[in-house]
Amino acid sequence: MAPRVVLVGPMGAGKTTVAGLLGDAWDLPVRDTDADIEAGTGREISDIFVESGEDHFRDLEAAAVAAALAEHDGVLALGGGAVLRPETRDLLAGLPVVFLRVGLSDAVKRVGLGVGRPLLLGNVRARIKVLLDERTPVYESVAAHTVDTDGRTADEVAAEVRRLL
Ligand code: S3P
Repeated sequence: MAPRVVLVGPMGAGKTTVAGLLGDAWDLPVRDTDADIEAGTGREISDIFVESGEDHFRDLEAAAVAAALAEHDGVLALGGGAVLRPETRDLLAGLPVVFLRVGLSDAVKRVGLGVGRPLLLGNVRARIKVLLDERTPVYESVAAHTVDTDGRTADEVAAEVRRLL
């Protein structure tokens, strides 16, 4: 069993929205590792970060990704930092991974004030820039395809993913 597509990319790339559109278009179930973690722990992501720390969140996330990859054959969206763990990158090898790329301006517009996103507390724009710079090469290293999301609607992005896969 393997997902039909795995969406990776930063906060504000539209992974969750595009995943929903692909699930509708392909008539496949959709899973999102952030939602799995919240459902599994009964806690919000921001609370896990603040109360238990980012390392603990990453442990939960690596386990959630491994479980979803083993159990799910629909559309899967990963949290923006999931690819930071080498064991997760290893699990993605050979899978239909799509990196939804987003530039700084569109990412900042889409995340707004960063509510519910603990990594963005403080200066949202500065934090997003650091994360984009650090992580873009990692997303590119795991992805079979890159789809640009700047200035495009989720419908347009989903249509391009469907053309590619
Ligand atoms: C994170 C992205 C978030 C969530 C957590 C950490 C990150 O998911 O997993 O706040 O490290 O980029 P989205 O990319 O779905 O917002």
